[in-house]
Amino acid sequence: MRIAMIGSGYVGLVSGACFADFGHEVVCVDLDAGKIAALERGEIPIFEPGLDRLVADNASAGRLRFTTDLAPAVAQADVVFIAVGTPSRRGDGHADLSYVHAAAAAIAGAVEGFTVVVTKSTVPVGTGDDVERIIAETNPRADVAVVSNPEFLREGAAIEDFKRPDRIVVGLEDERARDVMTEVYRPLYLNQAPLLFTGRRTAELIKYAGNAFLAMKITFINEIADLCEKTGANVQDVARGIGLDKRIGPKFLNAGPGYGGSCFPKDTLALVKTGQDYDSPLRLVETTVAVNDQRKRAMGRRVVAALGGSVRGRTVAILGLTFKPNTDDMREAPSIAIIQALRDAGARVRAYDPEGMSAARALMEGVDYADNAYAAAEGADCLVLVTEWNQFRSLDLKRLRAAMATPLFIDLRNVYRRREVEAAGFTYHSIGRPGDGEAHIPESAAAE
Ligand SMILES: NC(=O)c1ccc[n+]([C@@H]2O[C@H](COP(=O)([O-])OP(=O)(O)OC[C@H]3O[C@@H](n4cnc5c(N)ncnc54)[C@H](O)[C@@H]3O)[C@@H](O)[C@H]2O)c1
Repeated sequence: MRIAMIGSGYVGLVSGACFADFGHEVVCVDLDAGKIAALERGEIPIFEPGLDRLVADNASAGRLRFTTDLAPAVAQADVVFIAVGTPSRRGDGHADLSYVHAAAAAIAGAVEGFTVVVTKSTVPVGTGDDVERIIAETNPRADVAVVSNPEFLREGAAIEDFKRPDRIVVGLEDERARDVMTEVYRPLYLNQAPLLFTGRRTAELIKYAGNAFLAMKITFINEIADLCEKTGANVQDVARGIGLDKRIGPKFLNAGPGYGGSCFPKDTLALVKTGQDYDSPLRLVETTVAVNDQRKRAMGRRVVAALGGSVRGRTVAILGLTFKPNTDDMREAPSIAIIQALRDAGARVRAYDPEGMSAARALMEGVDYADNAYAAAEGADCLVLVTEWNQFRSLDLKRLRAAMATPLFIDLRNVYRRREVEAAGFTYHSIGRPGDGEAHIPESAAAE
């Protein structure tokens, strides 16, 4: 199959490289000439484990190319994927579909022969109808089948997720697209990944419903963590106790500082707006959005309270800036709200992140950036572990303690066990594990 991938960001680049690895002929297109030039030089503009190798192998095999020139890539393609961004629209939280609409118009002007046009971007229910209409209006002779194929990969594990998905969802209204999409995903299909064919609107809604459900699950355990703190229970034990119930499942039950990232915040908000538009309010999702927003800011206040109510002139060391480990993505990261709250309260902030610092520098002024965790802790009054990168899981606590002015450790990811941190001389705060309630957590659960 000849595939054109419109948009070469996280999703477009990973999907394009994986499709090429399946043996398809892929051209990744992007408007960003700098990004395409970097890719042509063999440089990967994002941090995603394993992606450099996958891109290099497939580019050198001649199956993966990069261009800013959309028209020839589309003209030669059997299948055109739209993988452009759909950020929150400023002001109202609806998904901003301007990039999708622009891509649809550009594709319309370039298609030749029957072409399957697939929306891989996360788009509100009904967007496939818009794409179809835009293409028909721009080029009435275009012969296309418009399909929805939402992407479920997670940054940090994107290649594994793409190649071993729980399911592939394909929403179509034109039966001619069914065989084409089966062929595109043949290697996964042969590996028994369930290929779920639905209507196009259903596929669009599956993506939002899935993300909203996961965001709700995280928010639920976060609220349970707050209750644990008031009642002396241990949230990790509660999570394990409920997660072993197969109807609930153990994932997405790690209490923390609130969800962030490029997807959950904007997708929950967009789903709320869709519900309102269709006069079918989604109150659980509305509450999830509100609770999560408040939680990120509350984490800053938690640090201030742990420092005795005032942080003016004091130094707070932040470990981890990205919204989760193994990515350089800073979009909607909880660290942003936490650092803002601390700086508003007069704290000096010194931060370290293994991959996120250049994105963070562009977003946050007035923060000192350190070269490693120990340098961040030097002379600090408090250490806050915000993102659970592996390298923060086995810090030399005694060395950290010696570097700091005040021995205060706030673990927003429940990575450590109270007694080991206290044994190194720290005062320790974590999430939903008050007092010694965590003493009976088995090693395996503590390490999750
Ligand atoms: N990042 C994730 O983990 C993830 C996971 C699942 C789904 N998604 C969805 O996938 C979509 C893309 O997300 P992303 O994180 O890859 O975004 P991104 O911002 O990393 O990449 C989007 C790319 O599209 C390019 N672009 C925009 N308009 C274009 C056009 N007309 N022609 C060519 N290129 C164009 C931009 O220059 C950019 O490089 C979004 O809808 C997102 O919600 C993202």
